[in-house]
Amino acid sequence: MEQTALMTEMGRDWDKFHASDIARKLPFFSRENRLHDCLFSQQFDRALLDYLFAVADRLRAVTQNKTGADTVSQLLAHKRAMLYFVQPSTRTFLSFLNACHILGLKTSEIRDTSTSSEMKGESPEDTVRTFSSYVDLIIMRHPTPGFVEKTAWFMNRIKRPVPVINGGSGKDQHPTQALLDVYTLHRSLPGGPEGKTIVMVGDLKRGRTVRSLSYLMKNYRGVKLVFVSPPQLRMEADILEFLQRHAIPYRETDDFASVMPEADAIYMTRIQDEHDQAEESKSLDLSRFHFRAQDLKVIKPNAIIMHPLPRRHEIEPVVDDDDRAVFWRQERNGMWIRAALISYIFGVDGQIPAPGKT
Ligand code: CP
Repeated sequence: MEQTALMTEMGRDWDKFHASDIARKLPFFSRENRLHDCLFSQQFDRALLDYLFAVADRLRAVTQNKTGADTVSQLLAHKRAMLYFVQPSTRTFLSFLNACHILGLKTSEIRDTSTSSEMKGESPEDTVRTFSSYVDLIIMRHPTPGFVEKTAWFMNRIKRPVPVINGGSGKDQHPTQALLDVYTLHRSLPGGPEGKTIVMVGDLKRGRTVRSLSYLMKNYRGVKLVFVSPPQLRMEADILEFLQRHAIPYRETDDFASVMPEADAIYMTRIQDEHDQAEESKSLDLSRFHFRAQDLKVIKPNAIIMHPLPRRHEIEPVVDDDDRAVFWRQERNGMWIRAALISYIFGVDGQIPAPGKT
């Protein structure tokens, strides 16, 4: 359905739009068959994922030398981006910042509402509209579920629509983390995720990265998911229902040791106690959900160990020295795949020279 027709049908009612089925909403966030806003993992199909992986590979190869890096840094030198990260972040913020700089985008940032006019009573909606007066791209992390989507919905209704990228939204979604996770699976496992057993461990209830990664698995044949968590932190029903609907086999257990030997990828996560209502996580013994040096002897010789980071105690630091620990590479992959995504949103992906052609 055309964006304008969708808008007419749904009127100007955000609540009605927000409550609509995701399949109906997605066209609203695309333009000329190309992603305009990046908000949900469900926006990525297999063809787009494979294409973005190729663009990211090309970017990292061509920028190895100064001539290539200079060429790429001119592609978006006429554009500006706003990074509005009002929830803590190290790698998402820095990888987006550096992805912008690789492509030549100039950047500005707000990382704390106490330094913005929201402190004078300006609404968050007016604040982000203000950004749109100055920049060509908004990249956001926000603690309120749905707020990033609302920003994109709003931007698409004004005369100068500015693309919005979701850098993490409440407990809800973190689509570019899922993008870098699946890019890491693609680069680190022969044949990528297809036919692999992926074991996700930890706080699956409140971890937005595992939610977003689960959505992406519909693009790969033969994937099996194993969810390992204490009963209190099980994966939410909406994700389990999504997996059933797409015939993606999964099972749930609290016995991490028993499933380690079958894993092709182990995706560790930390406890998300910032979402605690009454310090309920404090009483949980999570030591059974940690990966230790001795576990390296149990897992497959070619399995990989992932983590979106930051970590606390989930992975012993000594594990970092094993070649199967890919989380530091995963972090770096994020910068390249985010640069690929931004180049795609602005339609300059086709201008990235092949290595050796600069
Ligand atoms: N993985 C991730 O989102 O890390 P940050 O919170 O540091 O951005």
